Order: sequence, then C-alpha cells, then structure tokens
Amino acid sequence: MGATAVIGLQWGDEGKGRIVDLLAQRCDGVVRYNGGPNAGHTLVVDSEVFKLHLIPSGILYNDKFNIIGNGVIVDPGTLIEEIDGLKERNFFNGRLFISDRSPLLFPYHRLMDELEESIRGNFSLGTTKRGVGPGYTDEINRSGLRMIDLISDDFEEKLRMVWSLKIKLCPALDGKLDIEDVIRTYREYSIILKPYVTDTVMLLHRLLSEDMDLLFEGAQGFLLDVNFGTYPYVSSSESSISGIFSGSGISPKQLRKVYGVAKSYMTRVGSGPFPTELKGSSGEYLREKGKEYGTTTGRPRRCGWLDGVATRFSCQINGIDGIYLTKLDVLGGLEEVNICVGYIYEGERLDYFPASSEILSRCEPIYERLPGWKMDSRELPKNAIAFIKFVEDFLDTKVLGVSIGPERDSFIDLC
Ligand code: GDP
Ligand code: IMO
Ligand code: MG
Repeated sequence: MGATAVIGLQWGDEGKGRIVDLLAQRCDGVVRYNGGPNAGHTLVVDSEVFKLHLIPSGILYNDKFNIIGNGVIVDPGTLIEEIDGLKERNFFNGRLFISDRSPLLFPYHRLMDELEESIRGNFSLGTTKRGVGPGYTDEINRSGLRMIDLISDDFEEKLRMVWSLKIKLCPALDGKLDIEDVIRTYREYSIILKPYVTDTVMLLHRLLSEDMDLLFEGAQGFLLDVNFGTYPYVSSSESSISGIFSGSGISPKQLRKVYGVAKSYMTRVGSGPFPTELKGSSGEYLREKGKEYGTTTGRPRRCGWLDGVATRFSCQINGIDGIYLTKLDVLGGLEEVNICVGYIYEGERLDYFPASSEILSRCEPIYERLPGWKMDSRELPKNAIAFIKFVEDFLDTKVLGVSIGPERDSFIDLC
C-alpha cells in the first residue's frame, strides 16, 4: 500500500477519524498533515468514545506510528491535554512523533480569532475560535514560531520579539495577556513535548523506504480548503490532496491511493453557502438522528441533502480512487432521499461548483428523488443499494464501503 490518503470530501466531520481508525488495522502508522485543534475526530471502540484534535487516529492501536506532520498547527496545551487524557485511559501507545517544523499556536492567536470574528459581525465565518486562522497567517507572514523554536534556547527571545510586533500592529491585544505567564507556561510545555519532537520528514521517508504502509489522515474537508473551498467561509489550511505534500514532505510519487470520505448527507458548522440545507423539521431529523453536534465546539451542525455536484468536484480535484460513505443508517426510516444533481442560478442550470460563494448561496438545488428504506439489520436494503449505486454513477467513483454506525464493526465492506 505505501502511502494512502484519506480525505474529507465535504465541509468536514464526514467520519474521517472513524474510517482511519478502521483502515489503520492494516497499516503501520497514521500521519496528520493539515489543520490543528479546530479538527475533531471521533473514534468509538467497545462503546468508549475518543475525541482527537491533534493526535492521529492510529493512537488506539498499541503498535502504530502516529506522526504529526509539519502542516499541522499545534496548540501545545491542547496536545498535552490530549496525551494526558489518553494516558489516563491507558490508550496512549507512546509512538507519537511531532514535526520540528510544525507551527505553534499561542494564546494571542485565540484572542485575535475572537476579535476578528466579533469585528466581522454579520460577515463572521463561524470559526472554531481556536486561533487557527491567525496562527497560519503568522506562519505565512514569517512571524510564527515553530516546534523547533519551542525546544531551542532562544525561544524566549523570539517570542518577546513576536509579541512586541503583535502589540504594535494590533494594539487591541495590549494588556489582554501576560507574556511572562505565556513564556513560563510554554517552557513547561517544551519539557513535556521535547521527547516527541523530531524531523518527521526524514522519519516518513525512512518508513516508506522500509515498505511500511502509512495512512495520511486529512482534517477538515475539501469544501473548507483555503484554495478551492467556499472562500472566505473556509479554514486556513490545505485540506486538498496538495496539503499532504506541503504538510508532510512526502513526494507525490509516493502516494499510491487517495480515498475520500463522504457523509450520505451534508453537514456544515459555521457560516457559508449550503444549497441543500434543510432548515425545517427534515434538517432537525438528520441533526437529532445523526447526533450532528460539533466534536470540537459542540455547536449544532447545519444539515441537508447530499450535494452530488459539490462532492463530485471534490472527487475530481483530489483524484479520488474510491470513497467510503458514512452515516447511511441516519438516512434509514425516511420516505424519500434526495441527492442534488445540479443547481439553478438565475434561471439557468449550473452543473459545476461555482467559485463565488455569493453565486453558490443563490443556487437552488435540482434533486434526484430516490425511495427511502428501513435499516434494521446489517443487510443493506434494496433501496439503500440503489442509493449507493446512484452515488457511484454520479460521482464516477466506486463506493468501497459504507458505515452504518459509529462503532468499528458497523461497517460494510463493498470491495
Ligand atoms: P471527522 O471529523 O470526519 O472525523 O468526523 P466527526 O468525528 O467530527 O463526526 C462524525 C460523527 O459521526 C462522530 O460522532 C462519529 O462517531 C459519528 N459516525 C461516524 N460514522 C457513523 C455512521 O456510519 N453512523 C452513525 N450513526 N454515526 C457515525
Ligand atoms: P474536522 O477535521 C468541520 C470550520 C469551522 C468554520 C471554518 C473556519 O473535524 O472535519 P477555523 O476555526 O478553522 O478557522 O474555522 O471551518 N471547520 C470545521 N468544520 N470539521 C472540521 O474539522 C473543521 N475545522 C474547521 O466550523 O466554519
Ligand atoms: Mg470532526
């Protein structure tokens, strides 16, 4: 297998963690390459629920490598909390490797995220307020500090320099936090995290040269990608296939397969266009049955029908070799199930995903209506099979497996 990608095809929360946890059984390790503490991946093992934000979803197996690549923005406090939480439950396998190049989040990034959101008012993005946007901005602007800085002797000096830059350019931050406190706390973080910090680029190349099988676990979803998503209602990292190369250091030639994860319907947290959104009782039905509340923030997720046009766009751009369809059980019990196969914009039919969020927000979905099904066993009912077949044909991508529950064994392999 070599390197295999698992990418979310929608607006995040497709069930990537759950699929990676399942596929990890047959792999040697899992690599995160984008996003940060804004991500929330849920794994359910023997009725125990684990919510991971920064640690790759291979951590529950005692023999897998778990690598946090250089594209992941690390909040050291959140990471340490996650390590401690897993240790307390005896689920921390110790095989955690953090890139020395990973950018760091600081408390001022959260403050800036909150401040920016409040200033945007009606245009707010609905961020997770974890500081991810301001943190990546600093990285690109070369005002960021990295993991290698945290464990180096000149960390304090560098942080003071950045802080003086921050309060000069953003006076609203002045007096909002005690930088001496931050320095003290981050010194403690440094001692705890140092043993895990390494050159993960070298490590990945070594593991792949030894024929190890590695899964690259995407965070967010392609429609939240900063380049191709519903800009500006996106996250700040590359959740597309290209994020794997910039966020881990492997080469495109090393990637053998790219799998997509798609929910059988759509959800989105935060603001932004969502043509198939169901605002009434049908949306409420999906939210309650699918327990659609954010893993990171607890916010209710907006719910709607599967948008075939948007999901097909994701399959095309990312070169998807096959998809895993999750939450098929949630659609069970409905009289009719809809899939969006085109949009109407100003009286004209659109068969593609438009670049403009304004246009997308004014698109009316054209639906293919399929008969529903009841799901009371692991046996797929005839109409559920017809739904899967329709999805395959429309996306021009094989459905490799469907998930019918959050637990490891609630999965039907269709390969
Ligand atoms: P991720 O961010 O893509 O890893 O997804 P999240 O963990 O944020 O959200 C997916 C939610 O759906 C989690 O609570 C999972 O436990 C749950 N889940 C995953 N697959 C299924 C499924 O097939 N059926 C049901 N009912 N729940 C699922
Ligand atoms: P996982 O990996 C769902 C959304 C936020 C907001 C937008 C920008 O669990 O699928 P940010 O805090 O990143 O600046 O917020 O992106 N968002 C997610 N939505 N799942 C995620 O990750 C998300 N990560 C960010 O809700 O709309
Ligand atoms: Mg999630």
